[in-house]
Amino acid sequence: ATLARFVDPLPIPPLQAPQEHRAHPAYPQRKLPYYRMEMRAFQSRLHRDLPRTTQWGYQGSMPGPTLQAVRGEPMLVEWVNALPQQHLLPVDHRIHGAERSKPEVRAVTHVHGARVPADSDGWPEDWLAPGRSVLYHYPNAQDAATLWYHDHAMGITRLNIYAGLLGAFIVRDPEEQALGLPSGECDLPLILCDRLIAQNGQLYYPVSDDPEAPWVSECYGNAVLCNGKLFPYADVEPRRYRLRLINAANARHFNLSLSHRHAFMQIASDQGLLPAPVERERIELYPAERADVVVDFAGMDGQTIELRDQSDAILQFRVRDRGRRDTAALPAVLRAVPRIDPATAVCDRVLTLGEMDDANGGAMMMMLGGKHWSAPITETPRQDSVEIWSLVNVTGDVHPIHLHLVRFQVIERRPFDLFAWNAHRTLKYTGPGVPPPPHEAGWKDTVRADPGMVTRIVMRFEGEPGRYVWHCHLLEHEDNEMMRPFMLLPRT
Ligand code: C2O
Ligand code: CU
Repeated sequence: ATLARFVDPLPIPPLQAPQEHRAHPAYPQRKLPYYRMEMRAFQSRLHRDLPRTTQWGYQGSMPGPTLQAVRGEPMLVEWVNALPQQHLLPVDHRIHGAERSKPEVRAVTHVHGARVPADSDGWPEDWLAPGRSVLYHYPNAQDAATLWYHDHAMGITRLNIYAGLLGAFIVRDPEEQALGLPSGECDLPLILCDRLIAQNGQLYYPVSDDPEAPWVSECYGNAVLCNGKLFPYADVEPRRYRLRLINAANARHFNLSLSHRHAFMQIASDQGLLPAPVERERIELYPAERADVVVDFAGMDGQTIELRDQSDAILQFRVRDRGRRDTAALPAVLRAVPRIDPATAVCDRVLTLGEMDDANGGAMMMMLGGKHWSAPITETPRQDSVEIWSLVNVTGDVHPIHLHLVRFQVIERRPFDLFAWNAHRTLKYTGPGVPPPPHEAGWKDTVRADPGMVTRIVMRFEGEPGRYVWHCHLLEHEDNEMMRPFMLLPRT
């Protein structure tokens, strides 16, 4: 049966309010806003005509409430695991970190894109069993950007996020505020993810034919949810809106467009504003990537416009004049994004993105630098140093690679000779490097590493020393060894 389209209003996740103000040893001078975020099972409708769906969510909703921060104003969040003892979805106990000796349900929250001390970053092995909680602190010493929070528990991240443990985390700052970009009701997060939904309205997650090893290499849904709804509509006015597009899917990349060939003006990528708006007819977003766009509905009173993935509708905007107009134009210049000079890098780490058959006869697994998660740490950048990482993709697929803690710039993608690499591990380029297009020329935290290409990024390792992770953000890959630790060493 096909579901009626555009019968549910688009939910806008509420802003989470602090419960109180509290002292914290890391910030002796002041009391900080304290938020409590509880993960729990809940039921809600994904669509008017579907029965209620069981999901897991922060504060009992999917997406969870939006956390809002201001640059330089730290905050505390207590993450509480109030989930049931049994998982909603099939756990693969052969996967590292998900052994039967561990509690079946474990959760730990990471704020994606936040520059956070290691003890509050959501180390995948620092999970909480049901009934436990942890207090994290977020310095928010970073530029305005659309971040998101999500689960990161070792070996079951794909299942926890799929069950619904995700939400938006928005950082604001005065420089961005001064630009007069659409704000308030005209600033909307659009959190996109796909799910497999059965006739009875319940989520299901695909499994392999081996009941002992149900892991699958990628999970694609049959329905795309926008802020947790299937085919919602949004009432808008004939003026500009800022839409914060977040790809929160396990594996799907979105190829977004508007009907009537209406264009997006992209103003920001993962880590905030671009140097200038970029007009785009299509926006491709890989898992965990974000794009903030301004869409102008002026002159479209009485009309509808669809947000689409390929040719499939996701969301319908209904334009209706309520007499309000834009007060400011979209600025031609947004901010300076000074390029990090690759020549200042102290090293260039060549890291493969590969896959390998499990020697024990299990399913194939994905690897970074040819190493398992548990192998000794090999990436040990020094605080404040600049490094280049050359991501050599020897697989046939795109992998969206994410580093915790740092923001980076894309230098180039450059084709290389895969046969020479496989035969004697030599990196032979077969063509010139392709510099990033304007919409990728800002600050990023997740980068598309294309097959047959070396994707080269450059970053300064700002932040506090400690242990962090980097990984593929296809969640099935991340869970099955495509994640590695790195250690930020103190400056000398
Ligand atoms: Cu979006 Cu390691 O995370
Ligand atoms: Cu991958």
